[in-house]
Amino acid sequence: MDFISELKKRSDFIEEEIYSYLPAEEGYQKTLFSAMNYSYKAGGKRLRPILIMESYRLCGGKGSDYLPYAAAIEMIHTYSLIHDDLPALDNDDLRRGKKTNHKVFGEAMAILAGDGLLNYAYEVILGHALTSSDHLSAIKACKVIADGAGIYGMVGGQVVDVESESRDIDLDCLNFIHLNKTAAIIVACMKAGAYLAGADDSKVEKLEAFGRNLGLAFQIADDILDIEGDEKLLGKHIGSDIENDKATYPHILGMERSKEISRDLIAQAKRNIEDFEGKDFLIGLADYVISRNK
Ligand code: IPE
Ligand code: IPE
Ligand code: MG
Ligand code: MG
Ligand code: MG
Repeated sequence: MDFISELKKRSDFIEEEIYSYLPAEEGYQKTLFSAMNYSYKAGGKRLRPILIMESYRLCGGKGSDYLPYAAAIEMIHTYSLIHDDLPALDNDDLRRGKKTNHKVFGEAMAILAGDGLLNYAYEVILGHALTSSDHLSAIKACKVIADGAGIYGMVGGQVVDVESESRDIDLDCLNFIHLNKTAAIIVACMKAGAYLAGADDSKVEKLEAFGRNLGLAFQIADDILDIEGDEKLLGKHIGSDIENDKATYPHILGMERSKEISRDLIAQAKRNIEDFEGKDFLIGLADYVISRNK
């Protein structure tokens, strides 16, 4: 399997589908819609919607019930990036190869565009859940997404990330940050796809473990790319973590140890899904997460 062309096929497909959920840029609040759509359509790997789709299919899902959730998770992810880049947080001016949202629309509109994307995500998935023939599975998918994005998930991780700038923290605290700010949403993708396909508990647990290992490795790779990456390929400035004196894996454990741990996590992630038929793409994706240059 040529993994990169399989990935491209999926991200092209997903992108076309999820764009259809965006608001039309009209009405008195038009600027808000333009700001939301600007960052959503700016590009990005679309990894999280792809994970929902793959998890759904791996669990035998046949229809297109996962699509609203794929669109919504990318809205939540995009909101998290818009707010992460604000001067009060990481203060970055380049994202997905374009000026950050607040650089184009101003801080007030960037905050509101983030709020808008976050809330609209729930409007979309709860709208689906309301009309779904399998209410319970749909509500379970909504709940895991809310959990992953929330105070015991991504927002909680971002708080400790910000509070740990210029502070000496231990590995336990660093893992808390990475597992929450990044892995929690990735776990949510795996579980949401599984629930929507009606998977049993044992499958959900394996995919959850996969998401946790993949998500932690993903953030370690992100930390490494902030030092060793190529800005043109990444679409964001490197050196942001050092500038903000962030707690990162290379900062606390050194580059070599960080790479070793990320490889171990990926090996573990692959073992988590070894029993699944049709796992080849996800196995390729696991390798890609630590070999990527963007
Ligand atoms: C960036 O996520 C933020 C992190 C959680 C590290 P991605 O690297 O998935 O960003 P896009 O979606 O491809 O722009
Ligand atoms: C951000 O982590 C995780 C989010 C929840 C947005 P980073 O701050 O390292 O992400 P980048 O490097 O700006 O994409
Ligand atoms: Mg950050
Ligand atoms: Mg950042
Ligand atoms: Mg980073």
